[in-house]
Amino acid sequence: MQDLIMQIFNDATAAISTAQTEQDIEAVRIKYLGKNGELTKILKQMGTLSPEERPVVGQLANKVRQDIEKAIADAKGAIKEKALQLQLEAERVDITMPGIKHKIGGLHPLNIVLNDLIDIFVSMGFDVGDGPEVETDYYNFEALNVPADHPARDMQDTFYIGNNLLLRTQTSAAQIRTMENHKPPIRIICPGRVFRSDEVDATHSPVFHQVEGLVVDKGITMCDLKGTLEQFVHEIYGSETKVQFRPSFFPFTEPSVEVDVSCPECGGKGCHICKDTGWIEILGAGMVHPKVLSICGIDPEVYSGFAFGVGLDRLTTTRYKISDIRLLFENDLRFLEQF
Ligand code: DAH
Repeated sequence: MQDLIMQIFNDATAAISTAQTEQDIEAVRIKYLGKNGELTKILKQMGTLSPEERPVVGQLANKVRQDIEKAIADAKGAIKEKALQLQLEAERVDITMPGIKHKIGGLHPLNIVLNDLIDIFVSMGFDVGDGPEVETDYYNFEALNVPADHPARDMQDTFYIGNNLLLRTQTSAAQIRTMENHKPPIRIICPGRVFRSDEVDATHSPVFHQVEGLVVDKGITMCDLKGTLEQFVHEIYGSETKVQFRPSFFPFTEPSVEVDVSCPECGGKGCHICKDTGWIEILGAGMVHPKVLSICGIDPEVYSGFAFGVGLDRLTTTRYKISDIRLLFENDLRFLEQF
């Protein structure tokens, strides 16, 4: 029987040494030490031994059981250790590799120019306001003295949202909202997006940007308009830039002007940017029409005002010599990274 026990020991340890997985080991344990395992079967036959043999065989069997248990525990530990090593190897992070640099964003050129413009007007005592991009027909046209059948509407065809609602074609709508809610003196600029159903090309986009300006107080004259806008142009383009006021027409101002600056590209000599005129138009302006003041509950006999609408996209393209307005909206990083 002792030989048999040693044979079991040898077989078991041999099986353990070739086991690859924890399941292999468990199978060995069941085969030799389990309820019906080979060693267990031997122990059950102890009763057949003589009283002298019994303690000797018993001792040997116990020793072999302990040895096999220890071999099993060791093998399990080794397998676990090996699995851990494999996992560590697979998940290894190479800390010597250069990191991924996170890019920090920058301001869009339109916002750079807008911020400059806001600084200029705030330093002249203006507040900054805004208005909704989805407007009613009343604020965008009617209250600005552009009734339903007025030909001026043709130039500002837009996107209509159901009855009476439209995407505003001009920030001038914000003038009306301001005058409804504030008593003079008023000095405010309202920057924002505007929309027109224009075909996209190098100088047109169905979405673009304006900055509306409005001043209403007692005794405001055309001189205030000219002085304010000249100051603004000189701060944006430099004091050597010439400013030209051209008579024009807007239904909500009387008189109305368009303001040109000497072409920043050629200095006024004429080039492809200014279409050989030497001038670039940057805004429309005028003295607020008495009708518009009245509509907003401001007495035109007591108060007067001037207003202007600057094309922010034009300001930006001329300042940075950008030849195509589409670049401002495509958000190509190769373009944006230059600012
Ligand atoms: N809203 C005009 C446009 O989009 C620009 C303009 C002209 C605004 C004269 C004004 C103004 O406030 O007084 O063409």
